[in-house]
Amino acid sequence: MVVLFFISMFVARTMCHTITQLDVPRWADPRIDAELRCQYMRQPDDPALHSVKWYRGKHEIFRYTFQEFETRSFNSTGVSVINSSCDPLLCAIMVRPEPGTASYTCEVSSEGPRFAVDRRSANMTLAVLPEYEPLITGLPTIVQAGEQAFVNCTSDYSLPPARIDWFVDGEIQEDPIITGNTHVSGADGDGLQASWRTLHVYPDDYSTHRGFLSLECRATLPTRPPNIRSMAVRLFVASRPHISSYMLSKNSAVSRSTVHQLHSCLSIWTMLLLVTREVPLLVK
Ligand SMILES: *[C@@H]1O[C@H](CO)[C@@H](O)[C@H](O)[C@H]1NC(C)=O
Ligand SMILES: *[C@@H]1O[C@H](CO)[C@@H](O)[C@H](O)[C@H]1NC(C)=O
Ligand SMILES: *[C@@H]1O[C@H](CO)[C@@H](O)[C@H](O)[C@H]1NC(C)=O
Ligand SMILES: *[C@@H]1O[C@H](CO)[C@@H](O)[C@H](O)[C@H]1NC(C)=O
Repeated sequence: MVVLFFISMFVARTMCHTITQLDVPRWADPRIDAELRCQYMRQPDDPALHSVKWYRGKHEIFRYTFQEFETRSFNSTGVSVINSSCDPLLCAIMVRPEPGTASYTCEVSSEGPRFAVDRRSANMTLAVLPEYEPLITGLPTIVQAGEQAFVNCTSDYSLPPARIDWFVDGEIQEDPIITGNTHVSGADGDGLQASWRTLHVYPDDYSTHRGFLSLECRATLPTRPPNIRSMAVRLFVASRPHISSYMLSKNSAVSRSTVHQLHSCLSIWTMLLLVTREVPLLVK
């Protein structure tokens, strides 16, 4: 058996074109025609390319015959090939995606006597885009210095569920203390799922705020190109009343950091505040 397997590998390798890459988007954007690409390679001893065929499920939808420089589309399944571009190394077609999941197969055959074929398949599913922009909830009117805020971002039902990313002042937040995982709801009747992710903001951790932080939530669907929807809000931060700009700048040099460092900053601060309060008494 093993020997047979190796012999068949050897024959396949030497007698026909081999597909080196099949590129079918896993998720298709319903508003954009999807491009499917099949790349193949010919070894020096291989016979010439005979044809490249594309199938949707079991139905042939497209054929490129190399010797005749001919391309043909087949319209039996109602899926139309909009456009194509094929040569001895690559055959790309554009299709209008259909609802649901379909398996697309690229099949490359070499000239006789064997007309050996190589084929590969991949599934493509039509994505269902969210109808609404992501929604940020739980935003406080203002946070006092030293306080924290929890905000929540929810993305509308979609297929697949959106991945949510949080940005503070344009910087992606990945620290698990600041933002947890993207949570995904159960599927609705059509198989769509909503997702949400919380952001735990410690305004003192960000050196640059001028009375507010800009919070942005981005919901991404992995279509090609990705479908991105976003919502941005301002989180207003009360300024500290008793602290000189010298100490603020000193603190911001230290901050940009973990929560533990933040807490130690806060306690140093508290001590310094106490000391400055005591000073007038001592002077008296
Ligand atoms: C494919 O068939 C559909 C109807 O079955 C038709 O509307 C469409 O124009 C056809 N496309 C091509 C390229 O022939
Ligand atoms: C489709 O046609 C356009 C020009 O009409 C071309 O730029 C594009 O590359 C074509 N796509 C494919 C997959 O051949
Ligand atoms: C495509 O999807 C079907 C059914 O969901 C699955 O059985 C098959 O293995 C998938 N094919 C590929 C190439 O992922
Ligand atoms: C965030 O919003 C989602 C959806 O509205 C909700 O299910 C979840 O409980 C909220 N999480 C928090 C921490 O408020």
